Amino acid sequence: MRQLKLAKAFTLMEPGPVVLVTTCDGKKNNIMTISWTMVLDFTPLFAITTGVWNHSYAALRKTRECVLAIPAVDMLDQVVGIGTCSGSDTDKFARFRLTPLQGAFVRAPLIQECLANIECRVVDVVKKHDILVLEGLAAYVNPARREKRTIHAVGDGTFIVDGRRIDRRKAMAAKLPAGV
Ligand SMILES: Cc1cc2nc3c(=O)[nH]c(=O)nc-3n(C[C@H](O)[C@H](O)[C@H](O)COP(=O)(O)O)c2cc1C
Repeated sequence: MRQLKLAKAFTLMEPGPVVLVTTCDGKKNNIMTISWTMVLDFTPLFAITTGVWNHSYAALRKTRECVLAIPAVDMLDQVVGIGTCSGSDTDKFARFRLTPLQGAFVRAPLIQECLANIECRVVDVVKKHDILVLEGLAAYVNPARREKRTIHAVGDGTFIVDGRRIDRRKAMAAKLPAGV
């Protein structure tokens, strides 16, 4: 994984990919799949929607840390598998043959096989809507990866894969932060 400037980390999330969220409760690593995400600002701040119905939630609340790991389309079956079993009875790193990497700021592991990883701290919990607000602390990309297309969940069990990239950077220049 190569370090990515933190000011660019929001560009990993703005296209709305399905993400894997890793946690470490102090004893065990876990992973869940999340498609309800949002970029809140450039700093970067993100929101995810999840709650007590998931095993990961207790670790998220207790440690107030996680990693947002962004899978590519060649990981779709792992992404669906991770999102349909529970860390309460499954070691998902072992079952889905994923490699945990130590980050610099949080105990939750990065996932080596993913396209990118963002170490995050939970900075707010909006209980009424089961929203966790995350602050990105460091970001990494995997430059060696050949398959770079991300996955977008429709919500009915089907997925859309990234298509053509269209450049409107000149027209948007006034709205883009410096260096992005
Ligand atoms: C494609 C996909 C998207 C998902 N998105 C969310 C989500 O946005 N929020 C959520 O709470 N659960 C979501 N889930 C469900 C969790 O990933 C699932 O309940 C998982 O088993 C939780 O793992 P855990 O119990 O080990 O924490 C999604 C599952 C899949 C397959």
